[in-house]
Amino acid sequence: MLIVANWKAYVETTEKAKRLYRTAQRLAANKKNEIVLAPPAPYLGYLAIGNRSKVKFAAQDVSVVEGGAATGELTAHAVRNVGGTYAVIGHSERRARGETDVEVSQKVKHACGAGLIPILCVGENERDAEARYLNHLRAQLKAVFDMLTPKERLHIVIAYEPIWAIGKSASEAISPRDLTEMILYLRKILGEYVSAKQVPAVCILYGGSVEPGNIRALADATGIDGFLIGRATTEPVSFTALVKAIS
Ligand code: PGA
Repeated sequence: MLIVANWKAYVETTEKAKRLYRTAQRLAANKKNEIVLAPPAPYLGYLAIGNRSKVKFAAQDVSVVEGGAATGELTAHAVRNVGGTYAVIGHSERRARGETDVEVSQKVKHACGAGLIPILCVGENERDAEARYLNHLRAQLKAVFDMLTPKERLHIVIAYEPIWAIGKSASEAISPRDLTEMILYLRKILGEYVSAKQVPAVCILYGGSVEPGNIRALADATGIDGFLIGRATTEPVSFTALVKAIS
């Protein structure tokens, strides 16, 4: 499984970043899982540039601009050049700050162009009885997939993160049954952009209140390929427990 540890802004000291990196190295020794760390930008550079381990690195975001006179931006090429492999793009916490579908699709393009694998986050705010949230997901995927070449469409990871389930306790995570349905629905949409044979090859992650106590049930029989996990990956004990539960 692919486990992406989104440290968000929880990690603010070098000591803590190094401790979690050591934990990740231990966890990555088990070949069953690929461990990806998404640290805040300074720690991404600090850890990724000297990384010789099996742990991979992701940026938490990349900028819309590609370089030049753009103070404060984090370009996809810079992430790639310090040793990043992935870039989380379109996270709901970025979208909540005004990021649009157009910007998300530009960022995904830049990430692909720089040789990064985009981890595209999609997810509904809430669920309504008329199932309008399904159209919302479809639109988020369309905005990006319409812009991608056939080859790029196969090199993108989808992270399904329903906003109502993010950052809460495990009791509010999605149920395995609902997750199974959502994965099927997402694969159905993907079938509009890649061939039927290629659909199963697209990697789909789930994120939102994944914890040691619920990860096993979410992993079992839901058709999920991995997880994008925030809070529970920012302490060595819970990070270890998460990965052990699915190993
Ligand atoms: P959480 O965050 O695991 O803390 O709910 C997941 C995410 O936002 O990627």
